[in-house]
Amino acid sequence: MKSAQPIGIFDSGVGGTSIWKEIHQLMPMENTIYLADSKFAPYGNKPREDIVRLSIKNTEKLIDMGAKIIVVACNTATTNAISILRANYDLPFVGIEPAIKPAALKSKTGRIGILATRGTLSSALFSQTSEAFASDIKVVEVVGEGLVPLIENGQLDSSELHTLLIKYLDQMIEAKIDYLVLGCSHYPYLIPKLREMLPKNVTIIDSGAAVARQTKNLLQKHNLLNTETSTPSLEFYSNSETTILKSLLGDHSEITVDRLDF
Ligand code: DGL
Repeated sequence: MKSAQPIGIFDSGVGGTSIWKEIHQLMPMENTIYLADSKFAPYGNKPREDIVRLSIKNTEKLIDMGAKIIVVACNTATTNAISILRANYDLPFVGIEPAIKPAALKSKTGRIGILATRGTLSSALFSQTSEAFASDIKVVEVVGEGLVPLIENGQLDSSELHTLLIKYLDQMIEAKIDYLVLGCSHYPYLIPKLREMLPKNVTIIDSGAAVARQTKNLLQKHNLLNTETSTPSLEFYSNSETTILKSLLGDHSEITVDRLDF
């Protein structure tokens, strides 16, 4: 493995770009390849075996494309499949999990909310983390049914999205949470709306920055941090149409966004 090889990143769709942004900000010299599996999104309601199969497909594609490390930029894929990926492929993996631990430690009301997919909330890994770090506080778990398809379709300002958020946040506000954990990599794109809708004392946390730091630590540990100073190659591929992916990435001269079957 060489340090100039890219960091491979995958998500069920466009949401993992929120993690890519943290990774690129922390390690601007790294080459990256991002796969948006939008054709098969959402993962959140799929049976575990489908999530595992899709995660294997994405991993093998990234390995074929020369990835030196794989970031599973999807909570649903991480909580359901990362142990299988680690057992079967000989390269480092970084996953993303809901940040229950910091929220539970910092909460003053002893009540935190978590918004995530059904697949994440029903996973064994999530139950273990919740048990280990939040057994003495109240965790209001809410499935964000329908949010990922709206984000995938670029409907961030739609009334449908607003109506769903009111429904999901109401139960958390009623329970007097003071931390809201975003347990899906699509949800950071909802932060401006969430901020408007939540009481001021509620802190929103997501795991993107922590994932970027963990990726850097692992690269350092494996001696794979890129030391070349040439312009990085930042490749994005979607197996569906690319408009939303492009719009979330914004203007960035080094970025290429293409359609690819995988
Ligand atoms: N970004 C994925 C996650 O973090 C979305 C899951 C989905 O496709 O439903 O869980």
